[in-house]
Parts: sequence; C-alpha cells; structure tokens
Amino acid sequence: MDEEYAGDGRERGGVAPAVAPNGAPTGAPVDGRNAAPYTDLAGVYDRLMADIEYDEWAAFIVRTAARRGLPSGSAGSGLLDLGCGTGNATLPMWELGYEVEGLDASSAMLAAARKKLPGIVFHLDTFEEFSLGRRFQLVYSVFDALNNLLTEAAFARCLARVRDHLVPGGVFMFDVNTPTGLRELWLDGVSEGWADDVYYRWTHTYDEESGLATVEAYCETGEGSFVEVHQERGYATPDLVRLLAAAGFADVAVIEYPDGQPARPDAERVWVVASSP
Ligand SMILES: C[S@@+](CC[C@H](N)C(=O)[O-])C[C@H]1O[C@@H](n2cnc3c(N)ncnc32)[C@H](O)[C@@H]1O
Repeated sequence: MDEEYAGDGRERGGVAPAVAPNGAPTGAPVDGRNAAPYTDLAGVYDRLMADIEYDEWAAFIVRTAARRGLPSGSAGSGLLDLGCGTGNATLPMWELGYEVEGLDASSAMLAAARKKLPGIVFHLDTFEEFSLGRRFQLVYSVFDALNNLLTEAAFARCLARVRDHLVPGGVFMFDVNTPTGLRELWLDGVSEGWADDVYYRWTHTYDEESGLATVEAYCETGEGSFVEVHQERGYATPDLVRLLAAAGFADVAVIEYPDGQPARPDAERVWVVASSP
C-alpha cells in the first residue's frame, strides 16, 4: 500500500485525495456494492499490502520458534499458516525451505494464494472447525487474522483446534491487536489514498460497550468499486495468557515485534508464542 497506508488501518490519517475516482467528494457516502468480508477484497489485497513486511515477520517467527526447538528447513513436521489469505506469509516460509500449508475461510483469498503458490496445499476451513488429519511443528498466524474471532468462546475453540494440530513441543505463534490498539488506532480513523491503481477509503470505529472495532473498507479500481465491512475484537495480554493456559498451552509469552521483549501494558499490537505440552 502507499506510504501513508498502514496495513489494515492501524495508523490513522493518510493523504486524502480531494475527490475520489467515482467523482464523490471525500467523505461522501460511497456507492460501491456491499461485499462479504474477504471476497471482493481478494482481488486487490496484494496491491494494498505491497509494502507489508511479510519477510521480516516470517524471520521473527522462525527466530522465536527456533528457540523452542523448531528445526530449520524441511526437517520437522511442517508449518501451518492460519488465516493465510492470499499466501503472503506462506510464501516466505516456503522460500526458507519449510514444508508449509495454509488455511483460510475465504475461497476468494485462497484462489489468489493457489495461483501464487501452486505447489502448496491450501485448506478452505474455519479457525473454529478445522480438522486436517495431521500435526505440525509450528502453527502461525499473522496480520490480525485471529482478531476476526469476535468472542472469547470462538477464540477458545480456535485454540483447541490449533492444540490438536501441533506435535508435542510444537509452537503456536500469532499477532493480535489489543483493545488499546483498536481503541487508539481505529477510533474514528480514516485511511485513504492510493495503492497502485486502487483507491481506498477505510473508515474505522470502535465500540467500547461491545469491544468490537469495525472497518468499512471501500475500494475502487477501473473495474468497479465495493465496500466490505470487517470486525475485530482486541485481545489483551492477561486474557491471552488465560485463554492459552486454559487450552493447555505451556510457556505462554506475549512479546513485541521486532525485539521479542515482553509486551508493554499499553502495547497496541502483540505477538503470542506458546508451546504444545
Ligand atoms: C487480514 S487477513 C490476513 C491474511 C494473511 N495472514 C496476511 O497476512 O496477508 C485475515 C484473513 O483471515 C481470514 N479469516 C477471517 N476469519 C476467519 C475464520 N473464522 N476462519 C478462517 N479464516 C478466517 C480471512 O479470510 C482473511 O484471509
């Protein structure tokens, strides 16, 4: 995405073009069609995420998991990229020599992933229900994917599925936005600009009562426009530790990227690393 864009809107502001490509003044109601989450977005996702540091995230995951025994390259039982989307965080693991599979609930996102990585196995399934019939050395998830689990109960169901897909001593590592992050970064924020030939205007809100953040993601290209509404729940460090421990994970650590130090209480975004007993 353009310099001013911050991934999925975690930085606010952005450079606002005076007039959107559809002629609407910025801030005016959009006229794109309403699309289900991660359907139309799949077609423009990689253009929006062009500047995201997936390689560095992959290196951070490998470095952290290696301290817990993740073997390098093709040794070991393989990796699972949970919420792999279009495969942007699957690709660097494959490039590092790991046997990696991906899982996502969006067939549109997976279609892009399969096109990008034809030799890799991708599973169409949900975080709460997947059952792949095998275990992995490392399950990882990046870029807020698990914030899409909107209740603690849903989060706990996902943790149980992950636990049952790890070899003994295997590692689970993922990033999440905290409530602080969603409150600070998404509250009444607008991210707007251009990514390649995609005009985007993403409007964020945060509801204190429900603890849910909502983004209305408007995108427009020469081929048309759409709006997708996405929601996220933030997860705070104490809640993450409690949920992972309850799911049977050991050595739960909540850290920050890129130094791997324990997460500060006011961290907006944290990484969780935990081991299978
Ligand atoms: C922000 S994207 C991140 C994609 C990818 N990890 C990346 O970094 O580019 C979140 C992904 O999570 C997937 N997702 C959301 N809720 C899901 C669920 N309940 N089960 C499986 N996948 C889900 C979406 O389809 C989407 O591809």
